[in-house]
Amino acid sequence: MSGESSTALSNGNAGAPSDPHRTYEVVVAATSKMGIGMGGKVPWKLPTDLKFFKDITVTTSDPTKKNAVIMGRKTWESIPLEHRPLPGRLNVVLTRSGSFDIATAENVVICGSLLSALELLAASPYCLSIEKVFVIGGGEILKESLNAPECDAIHITEIDADIECDTFIPAIDSSEFQPWYSSFPSIENKLRHSFTTYVRVRNSGVEPISQTNGVIPGNSLDIAKIEVKTFSFLPKMIFERHEEHKYLRLVEDIILNGTAKDDRTGTGTMSKFGSQMRFNLRKSFPLLTTKA
Ligand SMILES: NC(=O)c1ccc[n+]([C@@H]2O[C@H](COP(=O)([O-])OP(=O)(O)OC[C@H]3O[C@@H](n4cnc5c(N)ncnc54)[C@H](OP(=O)(O)O)[C@@H]3O)[C@@H](O)[C@H]2O)c1
Repeated sequence: MSGESSTALSNGNAGAPSDPHRTYEVVVAATSKMGIGMGGKVPWKLPTDLKFFKDITVTTSDPTKKNAVIMGRKTWESIPLEHRPLPGRLNVVLTRSGSFDIATAENVVICGSLLSALELLAASPYCLSIEKVFVIGGGEILKESLNAPECDAIHITEIDADIECDTFIPAIDSSEFQPWYSSFPSIENKLRHSFTTYVRVRNSGVEPISQTNGVIPGNSLDIAKIEVKTFSFLPKMIFERHEEHKYLRLVEDIILNGTAKDDRTGTGTMSKFGSQMRFNLRKSFPLLTTKA
């Protein structure tokens, strides 16, 4: 990974021949009014969110690879000196200022635009050494990238509070993105929050719809019609949380470990005492719950 130890200024000429762009996933935490920052900082303390952020952005399925995190110059500067660059990830900092100098060059790349960053990551050596690309903020970068066609998924920590913010992100376009998974809300430092992943179901640069025989989902119920494997690009820790995946694992467990019983039809049943599937009804089936 020699290419990761040097700082490079790219201006959009990374030059990958056939697939010049990378797609990406967004990771962000936002209030009920889509606030994400205040005075150059994040105005809340949620250690479980920091852990989630670290887990999702660091973990790779191929141990020889790393992920990249793309951020705006102001977000870079908001990271305490002792914590930047974010370890275990290639840090890509966007700035329009050619003179912006990052003293610590290890694991840091500077790019002049989001497009040039995606081109750079699609070209050698990064196309081989970087597994996933995450856009991590702040507001200016997410204004451009959140609902863009290159965005495959949005992992959002939804904070159920209206905390004062001066930096905001746009609403997630529900005609393009549908919930894949939503955790049960939990409370930390008196803040109720949950983790939700939205996946792009329309107009995707990675064409998930073409793999569904033309089924275009109109609401979150329709996502069940899309083959789950279409979204296997998601980080494993997210992919495996989907209801259908959990259901298949439960069935597998019952088949492997269940108790066989005869019945009067002669067919028999398999059962396992105490197995449960929990899912977030409000997030999985919003239309059912809002109309009920
Ligand atoms: N809650 C969260 O999950 C979260 C995540 C990240 C950040 N934040 C918060 O968000 C705030 C920072 O966000 P922000 O909107 O002020 O700043 P930002 O998006 O982090 O950075 C803006 C800067 O990035 C550069 N930039 C923006 N668009 C660019 C483009 N298309 N091409 C090249 N460079 C570009 C410019 O740098 P130059 O001026 O150098 O040209 C610009 O001034 C902070 O409060 C931070 O704590 C929150």
